[in-house]
Amino acid sequence: MEKDYILQVKNLETRFKIGKKTVHAVNDVSFNLRRGTTLGVVGESGCGKSVTALSIMQLLPKAAHIEGGQVLYTPSPEQTLNLTDFKRNSKELRSIRGKDIAMIFQDSLSSLDPVYSIGWQIMENLRMHEKLSKKEAKEKIIRMLGELGIPSPEDRFKSYPFEFSGGMKQRVMIAIGMICNPNILIADEPTTALDVTIQAQILALIKQMQQEHGTSVILITHNMGIVAEICDEVAVMYMGRVVEFGSLLQIFENPHHPYTKALLKSVPVLGMGKDTELESIEGTTPDASTVFKGCEFEPRCPFAMKKCTEEHPMVCEIEEGHEVRCWLYEEKCKDDRR
Ligand SMILES: Nc1ncnc2c1ncn2[C@@H]1O[C@H](COP(=O)(O)OP(=O)(O)OP(=O)(O)O)[C@@H](O)[C@H]1O
Ligand SMILES: [Mg+2]
Repeated sequence: MEKDYILQVKNLETRFKIGKKTVHAVNDVSFNLRRGTTLGVVGESGCGKSVTALSIMQLLPKAAHIEGGQVLYTPSPEQTLNLTDFKRNSKELRSIRGKDIAMIFQDSLSSLDPVYSIGWQIMENLRMHEKLSKKEAKEKIIRMLGELGIPSPEDRFKSYPFEFSGGMKQRVMIAIGMICNPNILIADEPTTALDVTIQAQILALIKQMQQEHGTSVILITHNMGIVAEICDEVAVMYMGRVVEFGSLLQIFENPHHPYTKALLKSVPVLGMGKDTELESIEGTTPDASTVFKGCEFEPRCPFAMKKCTEEHPMVCEIEEGHEVRCWLYEEKCKDDRR
């Protein structure tokens, strides 16, 4: 039976043109998000997590464009839309953003406008998508701020961003994301700037919102501890590609790609420190504009073979729902590779 996917990203290609250089920020990326579940997207800095998310919403910077692939959004069993068919400023996409698919941006703490009250900023998003009177909208927002654990929400509605702590501002960003009850929430590093206790609270809030509203979530992070905590499925990215995809158990108990194995070597306790988990991997990521004939991970891979420098690995399915892009498994899945 075909699984119930709310979002399917297929062979997505996003490029940046910077002068004469082309950066393949997202390279043949495919993954599926099952309805009502949480997908973690992990990988070290610069591997293309944010650009993938921005491509889904077509909120890319001017220098970037989608070169190919599809983003299939299935709000109901009767309807599937290919979001890459729409122009980035089209009416269709503008109505989907925020209402159907909401995003908490990386560095969102600085994206609150200092000159408007918190309530006004949430109101703006809500009234863009829902026909509510000012009074109704205000009530809904105050209820949401309360649900998100913001004390005295009526008073806080009128406060300005500078009157909020980092954790509180992050809650406001979640409120902006969740106020229209979106089908999909994309949260890009929603807790990176926060301390451990607040991190845990924010994650619990996202989980709670998901349970109450049935939201499907894409959680971008480079913290494997956070992934272990709340994700159902995991996509591991390296230099613009998904190198491994599987359920939480498949990735944590049975990782196949040498990069995934390295990532998991020292899974930090939740919030133990932002980048500690990546220190065990030798070498650094090559310049993003480097074009590889073979596998991008080959220069750092302890298991690299001649073939890895010559040809790019295919995706192979090692068991149901578990895919890896690595020549080490060529024999094992010859019939399934693509
Ligand atoms: N505005 C931009 N202009 C040029 N190149 C960019 C821009 N934004 C991203 N890139 C390039 O695209 C690639 C992917 O970047 P992206 O921001 O998606 O990484 P990331 O995985 O989100 O990293 P981080 O964990 O640091 O947030 C990188 O090589 C980056 O240099
Ligand atoms: Mg990012």
